[in-house]
Amino acid sequence: MSSVHIRLPNPLSPQVNLRRSIDLHKSRRASYATACLNVEVEAADNKALAEKSKLKLGLAKSSKEVIEAEAKVLVGTYARAPVVLASGKGCKLYDVEGREYLDMSAGIAVNSLGHGDEDWFKAVVEQASLLTHVSNVYYSVPQVELAKRLVASSFADRVFFSNSGTEANEAAIKFARKFQRYSNPDAKEPATEFIAFTNCFHGRTMGALALTSKQQYRSPFEPVMPGVTFVEYGNIQATKELIQRGKTAAVFVEPIQGEGGIYSATKEFLQFLRSACDDAGALLVFDEVQCGLGRTGCLWAHEAFGVFPDIMTLAKPLAGGLPIGAVLVTERVASAINYGDHGSTFAGGPLVCSAALAVLDKISNPSFLASVSKKGLYFKEILKQKLGGRSHVREIRGFGLILGIELDVPATPFVDACRNSGLLVLTAGKGNVVRIVPPLIITEQELDLAAEILSQALPVLDQHK
Ligand SMILES: Cc1ncc(COP(=O)(O)O)c(C=O)c1O
Repeated sequence: MSSVHIRLPNPLSPQVNLRRSIDLHKSRRASYATACLNVEVEAADNKALAEKSKLKLGLAKSSKEVIEAEAKVLVGTYARAPVVLASGKGCKLYDVEGREYLDMSAGIAVNSLGHGDEDWFKAVVEQASLLTHVSNVYYSVPQVELAKRLVASSFADRVFFSNSGTEANEAAIKFARKFQRYSNPDAKEPATEFIAFTNCFHGRTMGALALTSKQQYRSPFEPVMPGVTFVEYGNIQATKELIQRGKTAAVFVEPIQGEGGIYSATKEFLQFLRSACDDAGALLVFDEVQCGLGRTGCLWAHEAFGVFPDIMTLAKPLAGGLPIGAVLVTERVASAINYGDHGSTFAGGPLVCSAALAVLDKISNPSFLASVSKKGLYFKEILKQKLGGRSHVREIRGFGLILGIELDVPATPFVDACRNSGLLVLTAGKGNVVRIVPPLIITEQELDLAAEILSQALPVLDQHK
């Protein structure tokens, strides 16, 4: 959903304008056409809207021009795929030329309700017509409502809001350090160190970066935060020796690693971490920024393992594409935090929190979660049928709608071939894993189509040995 199509409501008559904006949104569904993927889509409508938004933004007309302009004015931090996306609806995205893509990347596990969900849109427009931002110097209703909902649906007693996943982890680092000081007032040197795992990803800011295992993300920026030890994900014996009273402030772990290559923890491993942290007075932090909020078919990924953390960090899908992060904590952790210990200008603003309430409403519905599990099983099965045992395919893993196809060669030529056939998927791990994290609203028909495109694109790898 591109916000440039939204008429800004007149503050004097917000309801009239809200109605008009929603009508405009709905009118986009009016005309259907069959596009390159052989699925009914709103190609004509989206093409016209994409054209309009380009004109409005004063953008160049073709993908080529946009890509050339980008290379001149943006800091070169992203190795982008050569696609300029202009609009989206459901699980479909459209580029500036009106080409259609089936989106199995969901903005890297962000757009769980797909693009332009009507209830999400209504919540955003309604809230924008009332109040978008207030400082955390004041109270606002959506923030408190969202916190109440998160607390009611999780292990947590309290919430701190941030603006992204890395910021949520940054807050968790500070809370863990403060917790250790607060709970060991007589200790000369309270525990300040952290344990993280191979293939983990926790973010790009200096603290979260220090907890991120990939050496090439960290080394250009060293010194990062000291005191982090990495240990093999899943290795109970090796971890046992490292979690120490008076030394380890917290252990950070993703119940399912996303960026690292779709590796799932075992119940035994998470249970061990829980009891080792308890024994050592360390906190257990689950980073569910990517795997949380319904993606596994459970509301929280850790529910599948029956192990509960002291802190859980969330971000990506929570506000349906608007920037948000959240740190969910137990009362024990929260009691260590005082006024002024942490804060953020934008975090937990009324607009993002209203959007998140609309997202949470849908995703937390048990029938929605059951559909994610069912579609995950279905898709994994057809992937196994179509790709399993074929050359270059090592393993198909993950569960719910967070799946990975591990290859014995780099995945990029395969991902490029899929994109050229109208399917967007991501890489992960050491570049040899295809990561599949579609919108959770995807249909079985769309999953069939995705599996077919993946199957047909696979032989491209034979040319890239
Ligand atoms: C598990 C995990 N934690 C943290 C982050 C960082 O989130 P953000 O990019 O919103 O800062 C990511 C991003 O991919 C992630 O996958």
